[in-house]
Amino acid sequence: DKKYKIVLVRHGESTWNDENRFTGWYDCPLSIKGLKEAEEAGKALKEANLRFDMAYTSVLRRAIHTLWMCLEELDLMWIPVKKNWRLNERHYGALQGLNKKETVDKHGIEQVNIWRRSYDIPPPPVDKSSEHYPGNDPKYADVDKSVLPVTESLKTTKARFLPLWENEIIPDIKAGKRIVIAAHGNTIRALVQHLDNISEDVICGLNVPTGVPLIYELDENMKPIKHADAIAPLQGHYLGDQEKIRAKIEGVAAQTGGKKLGNHLPKTFGS
Ligand code: 3PG
Repeated sequence: DKKYKIVLVRHGESTWNDENRFTGWYDCPLSIKGLKEAEEAGKALKEANLRFDMAYTSVLRRAIHTLWMCLEELDLMWIPVKKNWRLNERHYGALQGLNKKETVDKHGIEQVNIWRRSYDIPPPPVDKSSEHYPGNDPKYADVDKSVLPVTESLKTTKARFLPLWENEIIPDIKAGKRIVIAAHGNTIRALVQHLDNISEDVICGLNVPTGVPLIYELDENMKPIKHADAIAPLQGHYLGDQEKIRAKIEGVAAQTGGKKLGNHLPKTFGS
């Protein structure tokens, strides 16, 4: 029976990850550590003898640069790359630029965890006069203004990402193209929730490590085939030292300095 393979990788650490700021659509670069992570991801892909015919990424430089570093390691800089805003990180609204710990001090850990990880509760919207409103950004000049977000929940992020997944990426996979997607923490959370049919409660506890390739094998119906190394609730598996990866995942959860949601079931928000 036909099996497809697709590789997802969250960008390496960015400068605002390092400063522990909510980033969203802000176009900050990779940090020095993030550049190293991207190089390591490329080496891991090479080590695993993975090859690609096409790549997808967002229009944000931290993901584009991570992809370039991976393709450089694989000597695949020449393959077609499709950049699309629909792979951007979730827009963090008025939280963009704020320090995560300071936001906890101001609003409390529960509220910040809800803004970071709940399924359908978006952060406060950004004002249209703000530099963080995408309507003034040339990257989105050809995007209908009614579609551009002023804030996003995981639910609305998934809703604007799935058209790209269904109308472009799936057809490429079915055409036999080997695909790598360099994206962001919450767009990967949206995709794996869709692929693994993860409940709204469980997806709240899912954190994605930076710069670690996540490999999915899909059957002919595009359903994931669970891998032996899969870390619940994912059915795909991360490439590399599993203990280091678990530590990185916990690190993402703990960025707010408060109670770790980790990958166990969090309490249901709003209950
Ligand atoms: C950001 O947009 O700040 C990060 O890329 C993701 O942040 P989060 O892990 O707090 O959602």
